Amino acid sequence: MKTMMIAAVAVGFGGFLLPLASNGQGTPAEAQVNALEGLFGKNATSRRSGAKGVCASGYFVGNDAGRGLSSASVFNGSKVPVVARFSIGGGNPKATDKGRSVRGLALQFSLPKGESWLMANISAPVFFVARPEQFAPFLQVRTPDPATGKPDPEKLKAFNEANPETTLQGAYLAKAPVPASYATVNYWGTNAFEFINAKNESTFVRWQFVPEAGTLGLTDEQLKTMPDEFLADELRNRVAATPAGFDFNVQLADKSDQLTDPTKVWPESRKVVSVGKLVIDKVEAGSGGACEAITFNPLVLPAGVKPSADPVLQARALPYAISLSRRLTEAQK
Ligand code: HEM
Repeated sequence: MKTMMIAAVAVGFGGFLLPLASNGQGTPAEAQVNALEGLFGKNATSRRSGAKGVCASGYFVGNDAGRGLSSASVFNGSKVPVVARFSIGGGNPKATDKGRSVRGLALQFSLPKGESWLMANISAPVFFVARPEQFAPFLQVRTPDPATGKPDPEKLKAFNEANPETTLQGAYLAKAPVPASYATVNYWGTNAFEFINAKNESTFVRWQFVPEAGTLGLTDEQLKTMPDEFLADELRNRVAATPAGFDFNVQLADKSDQLTDPTKVWPESRKVVSVGKLVIDKVEAGSGGACEAITFNPLVLPAGVKPSADPVLQARALPYAISLSRRLTEAQK
């Protein structure tokens, strides 16, 4: 940052001030969004990550265990309205639904007194980078070289060897079945957060949304016969018949657990507590809807929930705002 000239211009978006670099290279957050565009293309009006998706809505009801861990009003036991967006990982709005990428579940809880809680979760317990500085280079070494039409194998190998933790998510996804439905896969937050209760007691947690329908993937035989596009309609048909439920579970950290690296999963032996139930009871007919103007910045938190010091979590607000700003500006043209 020392060598980077920050222009005296700032763009306000959703309450954030975005410093703009004047040297053409961009800020680290701009470099992250540019790297997404480099790999997936600059798909005007689309999210630069989680580009293909469907907007839905429903409600959340918190329980006693949630109230015991956090004073957040989301757990007060009444129905809290929720906007949800299910998505396919990556910045390609035409991505196949049969890929071994992550699926996303982004949520906006609208709480009493004008509070909001935003989050964006993925169908893997592990994120692909341990530190935000790895994000742009991770994508750049996977971006095809214009001369060969392929990523440079030497650069990819060198990056993987120097950053072995960035191969963990790919290894998880290679073994996991391709989800049969957006409503039959687990979604993890991967970043740690701090829950604070009414007695001011603190508990560090990582959350997961576990489908009531159970987890269900497609077999290789089914994959051969399925069309590339089925997830949004499957969810519409499913929810039209019966609302789709998810348990909001939190895994409680032990003192020895890593709070600042989303590539390090906590042992399965850690206590997992259900803090309430999410119900999706409406799916938008098209690809738009209330989600378009929302960026699910996971640092928008209610009183009773605080971010951990995880640098990956801390780095998310700015690139989300930049992507929102680019896609909404494009949509106005
Ligand atoms: C340095 C780390 C990260 C960067 C730079 C980054 C960047 C982005 C950007 C630019 C978007 C598009 C936002 C928009 O247009 O509204 C996005 C969306 C998304 N991100 Fe991240 N992200 C990071 C970490 C994570 C993590 C840790 C998770 C979850 C474990 C995650 C899950 C998602 C999901 C599910 C979406 C789609 C949300 C939606 O449906 O609107 N991201 N990310």
